[in-house]
Amino acid sequence: MNATITALLAREILDSRGNPTVEVDCLLSGGVRARAAVPSGASTGSREAAELRDGDARRFGGKGVLRAVDHVNTVIAGQLVGRDAREQAAIDAAMIALDGSENKAKLGANAILGVSLAVARAAAQASDLPLYRYLGGPAATRLPVPHMNILNGGVHAQWQGADFQEYMIAPLGASSVREAVQWGAEVYHALQAVLRAKGLSVGVGDEGGFAPRVQSNEQPLELIEQAIEQAGLRPGQDVAIAIDPASSEFFEDGRFYNLRSENRRLDAEQMVAYYARLVQSHPIVLLEDGMAEDDWAGWKLLNTALGERIELVGDDIFCTNPAIIARGIEQNIANAVLIKLNQIGTLSETIAATRLARDHGWGAFVSHRSGETVDSFIADLTVALDTGHIKTGAPARGERVEKYNQLMRIEQGLGTAARYAGAGAYVRAPRFGHERVQDAGSHPHAAPARTR
Ligand code: PGA
Ligand code: ZN
Repeated sequence: MNATITALLAREILDSRGNPTVEVDCLLSGGVRARAAVPSGASTGSREAAELRDGDARRFGGKGVLRAVDHVNTVIAGQLVGRDAREQAAIDAAMIALDGSENKAKLGANAILGVSLAVARAAAQASDLPLYRYLGGPAATRLPVPHMNILNGGVHAQWQGADFQEYMIAPLGASSVREAVQWGAEVYHALQAVLRAKGLSVGVGDEGGFAPRVQSNEQPLELIEQAIEQAGLRPGQDVAIAIDPASSEFFEDGRFYNLRSENRRLDAEQMVAYYARLVQSHPIVLLEDGMAEDDWAGWKLLNTALGERIELVGDDIFCTNPAIIARGIEQNIANAVLIKLNQIGTLSETIAATRLARDHGWGAFVSHRSGETVDSFIADLTVALDTGHIKTGAPARGERVEKYNQLMRIEQGLGTAARYAGAGAYVRAPRFGHERVQDAGSHPHAAPARTR
């Protein structure tokens, strides 16, 4: 098999928000040509690997990525052409060494990640394997629960409605990814009808979820539960809820969580009590970034209050960075990490971050960014790493659905070997399962949910 890198060719393309991003083609001696594109966040953690932007105000308001593109085409290509694409770890290490900075600021994490992913995809093609199997081996057979962000707030909705950034539905009671995606889309459309009936806007935010002007951060939970029921499903047992308040975005003065939609400021203790009440009253299985990235003491309070009950995922606080995750594990301040390739900047380090979490009994939740492309790498990555759950936006808009569609393709490719993670996806088993048992059988989807 001929897997020598013969060329790396980068270019500037647009992401889903109309901002420039990096795309890389990797060519191999055997004739393979593979492509990868880099996503970009809006509510970023301060310790993320550095995305290199040109800063030239005459192009894209300074957001151009021509320097990162140039780094791929010249210095990175110069270093990697002639190497075997299957040597992923060595290739990633070579780029890290070439960059030499703490946070990939010199070459740009966007340049480095584009190459890292294109090389992996090329190696998979040269090996004649689907990407998930090349990365995960023959044991990679478990499909994740898709967490579909159907209601957007915070910075992803220009602070027009909820302070919390993401309200996600998790069809954990489905029997397959295909069914989960179907249920998700049905609930999404039901939510649109619920919002319309209440005279609320059905315009969407950056990740394709609706962005209505709600009156509180709890109201979206009620609207979503109504939508789940209108779709003929049971909130909790069939479709649970996950939230990402992205609270660093409304943390102020190093002390207060400012809930603008409710016109009040809470300290960490009050914020934890607020979440505890939400978890008590709604079928929430997972809470991401409940506390701000600089509020480690608040995280500790949150983990003490809710860490045995639900999955508490750290995003901005850990930035997919093994060194920071190790500190979090040591201080016992959460029980899961969010995994975003571009927060750390190479595939190898992303795998290391995931392993570290799993080795310590923590969960790993793979994620897209709010600025995306149609690249579906994270769908394959999630199956390969067997993390059991993924979030990649609404079941609408091309750059979001491409990941869900890829999961369905993978499931079909695995045939009878495919298993759906379901409620087993979480580091803390969902507890609400029995509350609504009396409803069983009263809706069209009851049969598949009960026969599992
Ligand atoms: P981002 O948001 O991609 O805009 O950073 C996603 C998240 O906070 O999980
Ligand atoms: Zn987040």
